[in-house]
Amino acid sequence: MTAAANLPSLSPQSTDIVTLQAHILQQQSRHPEATGQFSWILSALAISAKMISAHVRRARLDDVLGAVGSQNVQGEQQQKLDVIANEILLRTLGGREGVAIVASEENEEPVILREDDSAERKYCVMFDPLDGSSNLDICGSVGTIFSILRKDRRKTEPKDSLLQPGAQQVAAGYVLYGSSTVFVLTIGLGVDMFVLDPAYGAFIRVAQGLKIPATNKCYSVNEGNRLSFPAGYQQYLAWAQEQGYSSRYVGAMVGDVHRILLQGGVFMYPPTSKAPKGKLRLMYEANPMAMLVEQAGGKAYSGPGQRILDVQPTDIHQRVPVVLGSTEEVARVMEKLESSG
Ligand code: AHG
Ligand code: MN
Ligand code: MN
Repeated sequence: MTAAANLPSLSPQSTDIVTLQAHILQQQSRHPEATGQFSWILSALAISAKMISAHVRRARLDDVLGAVGSQNVQGEQQQKLDVIANEILLRTLGGREGVAIVASEENEEPVILREDDSAERKYCVMFDPLDGSSNLDICGSVGTIFSILRKDRRKTEPKDSLLQPGAQQVAAGYVLYGSSTVFVLTIGLGVDMFVLDPAYGAFIRVAQGLKIPATNKCYSVNEGNRLSFPAGYQQYLAWAQEQGYSSRYVGAMVGDVHRILLQGGVFMYPPTSKAPKGKLRLMYEANPMAMLVEQAGGKAYSGPGQRILDVQPTDIHQRVPVVLGSTEEVARVMEKLESSG
């Protein structure tokens, strides 16, 4: 067998091979005024994704599934993987001049990296470093979600410049560490998808301009909470079951939204008695996913008439109910919510 026989064969229908890095440079070249800062931030996210992916694949071997402070078999202190993922993102983004503020679901307070306003443009990056981390224990899908905003320079307090509605996001995306590692990105010009080729260590573009099917008889919700959902959600579920809908729930938002992006359907995290405002976080989960879904032609609401991207945040860790996915499916949920008052 020759050495070449060990390399993956290229798909016969593929023409150009475009890596995430090349894609970012292509986009940048369409904006002659671009300073490159934004591209550097995306490249920090790409390297973070590769590093986190490598840790996820070894999580059990490295014994990083337990609580922070636990010891591995060598008696060394171990960190939970969400702490490791958080550090990776903080360290890769920390080295990028264009990043002024980083805010993570894992940190109570945002990290102010650069306070001077001398540079032309500064960005804020917000992220959920490891979404669905309890899935690691059972070798299930987990992810990273990110959102990029321009720093609001009218605000004197750096933290306040993060409190912008999701409609102001300049980019958003997620990385799914599933059977493949997938990077899904929007910079406001549609949604593109890349898959990590483990043989070459590069994200390769596999789809451009993803579009969510307008309808699919599939809902994704934690039905164990059903009895504490507001009446409209319960009525929608009863209706969907009569219509023969399927139920699919990974328990990691990235996994569930990825399926909906590709196949359609509706994802919901309604208010419950345990979480009256819903469980998902506006800045780290709902806003970036809402931007992706809308860029793919779908809808994202937190209640009737309340588009997620229009919610004015008052706190960086605030939570919102989430209903997103295929246009027709989201509309049906909203109808039930409206008619139930
Ligand atoms: P995280 O692991 O970042 O805290 O997020 C978990 C979230 C989200 O990924 C998922 O959709 C939801 O929690 C699942 O919650 P339930 O277990 O209550 O269904
Ligand atoms: Mn999460
Ligand atoms: Mn998380």
